[in-house]
Parts: sequence; structure tokens; C-alpha cells
Amino acid sequence: HRILLLNGPNLNLLGTREPEVYGSATLATIEAKLQQQAQQFGFELNCRQSNAEHQLIDWVHEAQQQGVDFIVINPGAYTHTSIALRDALAGVAIPFIEVHLSNIHAREAFRRHSYLADIAVGVICGLGAQGYELALTAAQQQLHD
Ligand code: DQA
Repeated sequence: HRILLLNGPNLNLLGTREPEVYGSATLATIEAKLQQQAQQFGFELNCRQSNAEHQLIDWVHEAQQQGVDFIVINPGAYTHTSIALRDALAGVAIPFIEVHLSNIHAREAFRRHSYLADIAVGVICGLGAQGYELALTAAQQQLHD
């Protein structure tokens, strides 16, 4: 199976960005751990990060052409703003799990709403980097059902 991990804006700063909120692990560390997990599952995992909305949308479109079976996405702040990213995910109809490192429900009110959550298979938030691992495990379960 092919899995795409997408991380949105500012997640390239993980490790130094508000570590009390987002943890001290860098994105490279998180991705390396997920690659190990993917290998155990026999998944081909492609990890991408962009600060640009159009780039994330283009990668979602490409995922369809490449036969990606499942997407794990932390859309960063685009979670709360991007109808375009929602439309892209709905358009390709690839199942996806939305991940947030922080508990978006325990923060500012504007973080409580997600434009993606209602079309996601599931949402994981507040568990830090472990959320990505849980999402990959859930993806494996979903794909073998
Ligand atoms: C985030 C939560 C968002 O509200 C925020 O804009 C981010 C990161 C998280 O992983 O907790 O950039 O998606």
C-alpha cells in the first residue's frame, strides 16, 4: 500500500516552534520514525511538507494519479481556513486521517473548527508526535478491513 504523509505550514519548524505546545521532536525525526513503522507494515510511505496551500493541493491531486491508498495529514493552520484543501481531498476521494500535535479543542476558539474533519476517516489531536504513529496504525487497519 502507498501512504502519503502531508504536513502543512510551519511544521518544518517543529523542534524549535513553541515546544511547550508542539513538542521537541523535529519533523525529520518524526518522519524517520514513521518510515520505520511503515516498513514494518510493508507500506511505501511518502513524506511531504509545504508552507504553501497550492503545493499541498497539488500533492493531493498527484496522490490520485500515483495510486496513493491513504493520506495522513496535519494541515496546520489551513485546517481552520482552507476550503480549497477540503475540496482537493474530497475531489480525489482518498481516505485520510487528520492529525494535530496539540489539542486544538483546548486552545483558542478559532482552532476548534476544522474544514476537513467531517470528511476525514478520523481525527487525532493532542497526543503530540504519537498521533502520527496512531494514524499510521489506523491506516493499516483500515486498509486490511
Ligand atoms: C496544528 C494545530 C493548528 O491549529 C496550528 O495552526 C498548527 C499545528 C497542530 O498540529 O497542533 O500549525 O495543526
